[in-house]
Amino acid sequence: MTPVLELDRVSAGFGWGPRRKAVLHEVSLTLEAGRTLGLVGESGSGKSTLAKAVVGLVRPASGRILVDGEDLAAAGRDRIAALRRRIQLIPQDPYASLNPRMTVGDALAEAIDPRRGRARDHREAIAGLLARVAMDADAADRYPHAFSGGQRQRVAIARALAVRPEVIVADEVTSALDCSVQAEVLGVLGELRRETRLTMLFISHDLAVVRHVSDEVAVMSGGRIVEYGERDAVFSAPAHAYTRLLLENVPDGRPLHTTAAQPNG
Ligand SMILES: Nc1ncnc2c1ncn2[C@@H]1O[C@H](COP(=O)(O)OP(=O)(O)OP(=O)(O)O)[C@@H](O)[C@H]1O
Ligand SMILES: [Mg+2]
Repeated sequence: MTPVLELDRVSAGFGWGPRRKAVLHEVSLTLEAGRTLGLVGESGSGKSTLAKAVVGLVRPASGRILVDGEDLAAAGRDRIAALRRRIQLIPQDPYASLNPRMTVGDALAEAIDPRRGRARDHREAIAGLLARVAMDADAADRYPHAFSGGQRQRVAIARALAVRPEVIVADEVTSALDCSVQAEVLGVLGELRRETRLTMLFISHDLAVVRHVSDEVAVMSGGRIVEYGERDAVFSAPAHAYTRLLLENVPDGRPLHTTAAQPNG
């Protein structure tokens, strides 16, 4: 089966000439439909840069990004736009993705119909999206600042879902949230995965959270994938010294409130 998303030796960085900063070094990853790949690594290792490369916000210096087997760099402009709509990023900072002067309803309507999205024309779809992230329909009339961090994160998830993507790239969606709210957001994502066979690239520096949501795990260090495999294999027998170090630094018995995420076991 052709993977939904494939990164083939992708390198990327910022700046030019002597000031060039290389961030990603030949990163290769494969994401099959319906699977969740957890990407973990220390701050500054290049996780967000990778997320941005996948959705076209950072252009690779070399390597290929394939969506359903199609090379993004080789596709025509219209085709790229169509392929990109299949992959939605939930950015690390939900404030950055939500326009403060737009009601949540209008923001969702715009994602549903980029040409003429107004909340009043899409009431049912908006209520449906909000319900999927466990929010009341009246949230549509409010502005982003009128929500808590966890609620705002759920709005950002709803906005990504509005485009009906095949793949969601979730960049640190739980990192700014306290434990119980983390569980709530993870619960929402868990539900979505069960209901819709959503494919997800789940990025976090938190190993416990990654372990909870992922089918496979990739560990990044200094812009390189240093470990990559099935979750249980990675966690039970980490091959790389860096992964072992990460695992040793997860406090034992840490209370990760995950019951909400897996109501059916
Ligand atoms: N727009 C940019 N211009 C220049 N350098 C950048 C830019 N964005 C990121 N970097 C640099 O690239 C490196 C990787 O950053 P990135 O945000 O991808 O890391 P990260 O793994 O997501 O970290 P965190 O866990 O803190 O979110 C860092 O050294 C960062 O300073
Ligand atoms: Mg980041």
